[in-house]
Amino acid sequence: MLYIVGIGPGGERYFTREAEEVLGSVDLIVCYRGYRKYIERFKKEIYTTGMRGEIERVRYALKEGERRDVALVSSGDPTIYGMASLAYELAERDNCKVTIKVVSGVTAASVSSGILGAPLNHDFAVVSLSDLLIPLEVILKRIRCALEGDFVLVLYNPLSKSRRTPFLKTLDIIKEYREKRGIDYIVGIVKNAGREGEEYRITTIEDIYNNLEEYMEFIDMNTTLIVGNTNTRIVLNKMITPRGYLNKYL
Ligand SMILES: C[S@@+](CC[C@H](N)C(=O)[O-])C[C@H]1O[C@@H](n2cnc3c(N)ncnc32)[C@H](O)[C@@H]1O
Repeated sequence: MLYIVGIGPGGERYFTREAEEVLGSVDLIVCYRGYRKYIERFKKEIYTTGMRGEIERVRYALKEGERRDVALVSSGDPTIYGMASLAYELAERDNCKVTIKVVSGVTAASVSSGILGAPLNHDFAVVSLSDLLIPLEVILKRIRCALEGDFVLVLYNPLSKSRRTPFLKTLDIIKEYREKRGIDYIVGIVKNAGREGEEYRITTIEDIYNNLEEYMEFIDMNTTLIVGNTNTRIVLNKMITPRGYLNKYL
């Protein structure tokens, strides 16, 4: 049996009870090297690979899952830019005789939203800015469509030292919509949500442009950005997107 287990965005307190139970019961845990510290406490056999070792890791988990109970660990939720789809695809391709069960986890967007206030309290779209597996034009088209639809926008994988272009081009599109809509978009930035070193900032697109180098120093691959929609406001120093109750009932 292969369980694909989401462990939340980092800290132990975001493990669901189901994740705890499964990780405590399997024979083997397979994960990215950097997550070893989160699962060592289960005292199980552990198999890890490093960055770009995803295919090897998932194939090993599938193969072992044919003869014993295995947990393949993914951060956040395994079905949101996680390992779940790759496991299903490889199981089909390699004709694996294994049953797969996903154990959902708390995604970074959800924890980040709570840290910032309640910016995801209306329709939102999530876009990853990593162009490693899909062309940049597709990513930018999706950003544009989300802004055109006035969705709140969650950005995963925003910026790394070697990958700055998607972030800069995304900012340009948001700026274009700022001029078109005549509003300054509110932006929430959460780094290390739920982990040691958690930090957040609530700012605007204009401020990011005015202090670009500083923000590009702050934002990294452990950061989630939430760009508000045209109704997003600052309330009690937090970023919120109203559902509309006050307009309708008060
Ligand atoms: C490949 S995606 C994985 C997402 C994960 N499966 C989830 O559901 O949260 C990695 C991106 O998620 C976001 N992320 C993951 N953990 C985070 C955290 N603790 N704080 C802020 N952002 C995080 C970052 O944008 C990071 O670049």
